[in-house]
Amino acid sequence: MKMGKLFYVLVIVVLIFTSSCSNSTNNKKGGKSNVEMDKKVSALLSRMTLEEKVGQMTQITLDKFYNKGILDTILLREYIIQYGIGSILNTHQDKNGSIIPLSMKEWRDLQTTIQNYALQARLKVPILYGIDAIHGVTYLEGATLFPHNIAMAAARDTEIVYKAATITAKEVRACGIRWNFDPVLGVGRQPLWSRFEETFGEDTYLVSMMGRAVITGYEGDGLDKNTAVASCMKHYLGYSDPLNGKDRTPAYIPEIVLRQIFLPPFKEAVDAGTSTVMINSGSVNGIPVHANKYLLTDVLKKELGFQGLVVSDWQDIIALYDKHHVAKDNKEAVMMAVNAGIDMSMVPSDLSFYKDLVSLVKEGKVPESRIDDAVRRILKVKYRLNLFDNPFPEKGTEDYYEKPDYKQVALKAAHELITLLKNDTVSGHSVLPLSNDLRVLVAGPGANSRATLNGSWSYSWQGKDESHYPSNVLTIRQAIEEKIGKDKVINIAPAGFQKVSSQQIKDLQKYASGADVIVLCLGENSYAESPGSIDDLTLSEDQLKLAETASITGKPIILILTEGRPRIVSKIEPSMNAVLLAYRPGNLGAIAIADVLLGEVNPSGKLPYTYPRYTGNIMTYDMPVRSAPYYKPQWPFGYGLSYTTFSTSLKLNHDTLNINDTLQVSVLLKNTGNRYGELAIDLFVRDMTATMAPPMRKLRRFARVALKAGESRRIIFNLSNEDWSFIDSSLKLRIEEGNMMIMVGDKKAAFYLKLKE
Ligand code: BGC
Repeated sequence: MKMGKLFYVLVIVVLIFTSSCSNSTNNKKGGKSNVEMDKKVSALLSRMTLEEKVGQMTQITLDKFYNKGILDTILLREYIIQYGIGSILNTHQDKNGSIIPLSMKEWRDLQTTIQNYALQARLKVPILYGIDAIHGVTYLEGATLFPHNIAMAAARDTEIVYKAATITAKEVRACGIRWNFDPVLGVGRQPLWSRFEETFGEDTYLVSMMGRAVITGYEGDGLDKNTAVASCMKHYLGYSDPLNGKDRTPAYIPEIVLRQIFLPPFKEAVDAGTSTVMINSGSVNGIPVHANKYLLTDVLKKELGFQGLVVSDWQDIIALYDKHHVAKDNKEAVMMAVNAGIDMSMVPSDLSFYKDLVSLVKEGKVPESRIDDAVRRILKVKYRLNLFDNPFPEKGTEDYYEKPDYKQVALKAAHELITLLKNDTVSGHSVLPLSNDLRVLVAGPGANSRATLNGSWSYSWQGKDESHYPSNVLTIRQAIEEKIGKDKVINIAPAGFQKVSSQQIKDLQKYASGADVIVLCLGENSYAESPGSIDDLTLSEDQLKLAETASITGKPIILILTEGRPRIVSKIEPSMNAVLLAYRPGNLGAIAIADVLLGEVNPSGKLPYTYPRYTGNIMTYDMPVRSAPYYKPQWPFGYGLSYTTFSTSLKLNHDTLNINDTLQVSVLLKNTGNRYGELAIDLFVRDMTATMAPPMRKLRRFARVALKAGESRRIIFNLSNEDWSFIDSSLKLRIEEGNMMIMVGDKKAAFYLKLKE
């Protein structure tokens, strides 16, 4: 610890938190006036019975109302009219028990049926319907599927993330749905975790900026516009870092780390005006978050000033007694959750929440004021979404579906994110890009799979069913064939991700001699949530064996990885001549991969996480200095190559910076190679000495720049107090005087931060 150092506990703590309060109350986004809304909501609330209020707090899954694929309208009427449920979510199974994507017409008809029943209830309160359109509209036939968040983060392009979100919002609203359970704002610090692909990676700032872009895209200029949907930041708080890497299992995260690493994206989202939040199913430091009044009410609602609606995750109030064992029965679980600050329960399949909550209020165990607060929050979201004026699918919105320019956005995003991790020089030439007169043997389980390009939440929850994908979505093999001609692609027996068939291994050995190069497509099949839990980050044995077989052929090998999390490849990496990481690049991903392989697009993605080399070395780039000697990744955070070369130079406007002044970082970038290239750059700050052992470096800005061969461009970044502040042991934001370092690319520049002028 550095003694005698000046420090400054920031007034900005107060400023930050009060500004977030005013943001969410002011309704700055051009929607209806707050006065009008408050009046209408209060009037409605005053007419509601306790049962009607609790009904509003109840959310039921659509599948509850289906029997062997047929809608049970009697049951649906009963839940909506008699019990007054406030919300419905998800999709339903068909007669065979499978989830299949619905057509736009089916969605619109369904919403019309539901809202017609809502209008027959005493107070005619419309239903708030929600789905998980995580990277496009999950359960809609033919919906545009964009890259997953982990892939988007590699592009370092908030504009493309914003555009994708505006398109998703339009396609969701076109279905007659107005609530999207997205974005995921967990910081991905645990690569084993099966929902890693839903995160924007391991860095807090990156997650915060991407989250803001998504929320702005969804909520647009106001929820009453028929192009917008209510966003739902999730899963608050600490879900993304379970101790043992398994989904929905306990996390142990000291509050100082919660505040430094995990809370800022949620704060940013509140400031950006997100309307709703979903809660972490797990526990943090022994307390299930659904029962944690401190996190839900004191921090989220009071400190961050979140005015929106708090929804539980799937069955997670029930889980308080049957999984976490912190409540003795459902009734106690409901009491804990509602008193802690949950406003709506994703029950999702029965009336247990409804019945127990009505009794609890009557017995005085849950104050009616808490119920009023919850219902007010729910009704406000409905009001802002214009549901009271028109709860039905809006006329004309069906035209927002499947526009050709949506695909262009998805393709541009996929181009930007593909990350070139290795490109050997063989006989004086880089292996990539490939010339299009070569004969290519395309092997591996990823070669013929659309599911691996998309991962979770892709036409179904697990995204595994290949038959759900539109036939015009190309696989990697097909995309290469389109580029160089079928006759030059050697097509061999298919392979599975866990079990590579012995036929594929034999074919690879047999046909390699006829090929100039092997494109080996490895990685992961699709999975979502708990079914995606694994015990070993290393790529499956069979895939490693296939790679070894390929290496024995003596042909150059290009490894293409499509995967939701970094599967360890250290054993085979030395015998791969080039490596392209495509993450989950979405429906247009294979085309983007082929474009990069053949040099039509110059790769520019940068790793949004540390790619581990060893299972026993799972570290993040922003570790404390003391751990740095142990950081031995396969590829570090921010790594990514190009087909051209760039130079960077760095200048600061101050050697000594007074507190409250702005540091201008001027970065001159030059494309020193001979072809057009885009460059994603990261700017890091290192606090050289601090009372809380400082990290090696922290990402504070990023940008994407396009440069023609020989072209230069200067970018100016302005940094100030927030960029050198950290959470201290009293959990306050703090700044200390001392030496700081700015780092961009291979360049560094130092300055001294002075607290007293
Ligand atoms: C997931 C949520 C999702 C919900 C509704 C849960 O299992 O954890 O992220 O929004 O299901 O589909």
